[in-house]
Amino acid sequence: MRRLGPALLCLSLFTQAATAQTVGHETLKLDAPKPLLLPTPPMGWNSWNKFGCNVSETLIRQQADAMVASGMKAAGYTYLVIDDCWQKSRDADGNIQPDPERFPSGMKALADYVHSKGLKFGLYSDAGALTCGGRPGSAGHEFQDARQYAKWGVDWLKYDWCYTGPRTPEAAYTIMAKALRASGRDIVLSICEWGNSRPGRWAHPIGHLWRTTGDIWDAWKGKKEWSHGLLDIIDMNADLWAEAAPNGWNDPDMLEVGNGGMTTTEYESHFSIWAMLAAPLIAGNDLSRMDADTRRILTNAEVIRVDQDPLGRQGRRVWRQGDLEVWVRTLADGERAAVLFNRGEAPADIKVTWAQLDLAPHLKAQVHDLWSGRKTRGVSGEYGGRVAPHGVIMVRVTPAS
Ligand code: GLA
Repeated sequence: MRRLGPALLCLSLFTQAATAQTVGHETLKLDAPKPLLLPTPPMGWNSWNKFGCNVSETLIRQQADAMVASGMKAAGYTYLVIDDCWQKSRDADGNIQPDPERFPSGMKALADYVHSKGLKFGLYSDAGALTCGGRPGSAGHEFQDARQYAKWGVDWLKYDWCYTGPRTPEAAYTIMAKALRASGRDIVLSICEWGNSRPGRWAHPIGHLWRTTGDIWDAWKGKKEWSHGLLDIIDMNADLWAEAAPNGWNDPDMLEVGNGGMTTTEYESHFSIWAMLAAPLIAGNDLSRMDADTRRILTNAEVIRVDQDPLGRQGRRVWRQGDLEVWVRTLADGERAAVLFNRGEAPADIKVTWAQLDLAPHLKAQVHDLWSGRKTRGVSGEYGGRVAPHGVIMVRVTPAS
């Protein structure tokens, strides 16, 4: 069993106390507290980044098999989530129906298959009349849909924000949270309103994670319609660190590692910064066709260990000069993580100081480079190195005992 740290205990008390809140003129009461399902950020896979609407039971079974065979499950990835476009229609009683051509065996059989692999099963819906892909949404069917998901064996609901009309996100997500809690099954609620209403300020009693931005785009930087490249997503998340805590995480969107739009170095930076952000690690690539670098990055046990640190405190950017940055994260038991990040086009020397890490200047520590594996003992005052263009040095700093 995972150790529940003091931060988590506090949060759980806070969550239980905060089950009623006022939104405009409405009082939204959550009858049951948010189930404690994510003491550390979730890890899993989602179909959207690679496959879009091209989902089917064949694909999901293949990805479930690959999640086990590739070593992703052993590295900690658990949730397998079907994003948009699995839904087709509602029957005469309003029950949501999967696309019969793509999911001929039905969702219960598919969930059973995923569970038989020791994995968890997730689905997507939308708080509006339609999903972003134009399929039936859950507006007006929240309790009926939640009961259906529970019957199928769903463990995770990603709940999107297209076609929602005048309701506030807080009101709409509260309804689905109530419906899920009344369903009789523990289901993670993944809020996806793109950070529009700053969900970190209201979502703790309601959901387990919340998107903080529009969609990620598999590119180093820039904007394409409502999607943003890696640097843009990082900048939009840099100041939100105070809003995350165990069982309620900022979600800078799913991983693009392995999808081909960035270099291996850039994907290492992507994965490292996600670990510093205590971000959900939701792979978005084809797990059945991973090259060696993709597998090496996604299953780097030491970087994952930073992401999954039991203290659950999100890291932050503490220094920035031109294209060079230093990120730090306080870990459990007095350890620290740091990322030296070079966004520029030439190699650069970057260092982290013990002051930035909130460590006494003469304290001696072991510094473990999490990508090269090199360990250096007896370091004090600062640690630095030459960082490749678009690359990182990521370290765990362990004070000598
Ligand atoms: C929105 C979400 C994406 C994805 C698509 C599906 O854009 O932000 O993550 O779920 O909808 O249509």
